[in-house]
Amino acid sequence: MRRLPEITLWLPLLATTKLHDIQERRDIDVNLKHALAMLGLIGLSASAQAQDPNLARNLAATCANCHGTNGHSLGGMESLAGEAKDKLMQKLMDYKSGEKPATIMHQIVKGYSDTQLELITAWYAAQK
Ligand code: HEC
Repeated sequence: MRRLPEITLWLPLLATTKLHDIQERRDIDVNLKHALAMLGLIGLSASAQAQDPNLARNLAATCANCHGTNGHSLGGMESLAGEAKDKLMQKLMDYKSGEKPATIMHQIVKGYSDTQLELITAWYAAQK
């Protein structure tokens, strides 16, 4: 019986390794593209934030359901309008750290960065 040359046994194996290599390189390439796109998005959103003149007001609006429109509470809830910024900030940071016990505020404040809370408290302090 005629023996096949040894190379024919190796060929399929060589071919699959080659394909695998190419696939891997493509994956790396795609990942790199994703990473670059993400960086671009982060850059964009950072500059969008810096340029949005209504950012503080919009962030503060997320508190209105409970603390009233523009921080003027109509019910039993604390009004935030016109309160000293430092006082508000201190309370929020105490909620965040767990220092100040709460039913809900300790969870809400964790959804905001300290910078965002600074913006929100400054906005409420400026309300009449
Ligand atoms: C779902 C309702 C709800 C929302 C939304 C909400 N709060 Fe509150 N807030 C409360 C409640 C209830 C308390 C009383 C503490 C507690 O039990 O959590 C409180 C307490 C506070 C206090 C302390 C008041 C005081 O003088 O003791 C501050 C300051 C405050 N909230 C700020 C905010 C800010 C800023 C936001 C928006 C980022 C916000 N809250 C969103 C319900 C809410």
